[in-house]
Amino acid sequence: MGIFAIANNKGGIGKTTSVINIGAALTKFDKKVLLVDFDPQANLSKSLGFRECTNTLTDVILQGKRLNVERFSDNLHVLPATMALTRVEQQLDPAQGDHHVLKEILQSIETDYDVILIDCPPALNILTTSALTAATHLLIPVQAEFLALEGLASFYDAIKKIQKRINTKLEIGGLFVTRYDQRKVLNRHVLETLSERFSEYLLPTTIRENITLAEAPVNRTDVFSYAPKSYGAEDYQMLARDILHKLEESTVTSPKAINQLDYKK
Ligand SMILES: Nc1ncnc2c1ncn2[C@@H]1O[C@H](COP(=O)(O)OP(=O)(O)O)[C@@H](O)[C@H]1O
Ligand SMILES: [Mg+2]
Repeated sequence: MGIFAIANNKGGIGKTTSVINIGAALTKFDKKVLLVDFDPQANLSKSLGFRECTNTLTDVILQGKRLNVERFSDNLHVLPATMALTRVEQQLDPAQGDHHVLKEILQSIETDYDVILIDCPPALNILTTSALTAATHLLIPVQAEFLALEGLASFYDAIKKIQKRINTKLEIGGLFVTRYDQRKVLNRHVLETLSERFSEYLLPTTIRENITLAEAPVNRTDVFSYAPKSYGAEDYQMLARDILHKLEESTVTSPKAINQLDYKK
């Protein structure tokens, strides 16, 4: 079992797109997957057609309601969000240990899944800290653009603090480049620098800029249902494979959990 937080303090770089399509790709490897929308913008929920849901994480955290898990497909389930999640952001108090709340909720359902993916907001706030407290692994999408590396260095420092103080078991599952355009000199240059500076963490797969990835959510679905032969589907399938390898190598997941991952349902 692995819980992956997908985080970067920048917006618009492909976090939500990655959570949806890594999740859908993992179901192609016969994994049972839960997606957690932990961004008040609720883009993940809207992209998969979940609007105005009840008994969301917000209702559970603030009102003690019973959690409702939505079903996108047999093996892809979703904990959707609404804008009301901003109230959680305002009311949780790290000084009171409130950042453990998501971890505690997920503990009650995590045995139902092989992989849980948490979509984080574009900030290092209490929601992201809560996601990193619950996670076994952190995945960092990066767009190969100007200032990407600068932002990454400060984000990485903050992660180190969380690893030291809150979640000592948190592993860096890896960095991966999104929205990559081979024709852009800057993209190539930044990817090169990333592979030099972060060689230890950079995953082998790069997600190319591909229009089907932007179109799929308009149709309330993932890229595998929308355009199974696209570059987008191809890239996310490769990335899901990289992630499964990470999980196999992981020191966090027990041997038993790894066997479960090899099991074909
Ligand atoms: N590889 C890609 N190719 C083309 N468009 C993409 C790609 N990845 C993301 N997008 C589009 O870019 C925008 C931002 O992506 P999103 O996943 O919402 O980023 P974030 O969650 O980091 O804010 C969305 O409109 C999305 O459809
Ligand atoms: Mg997003």
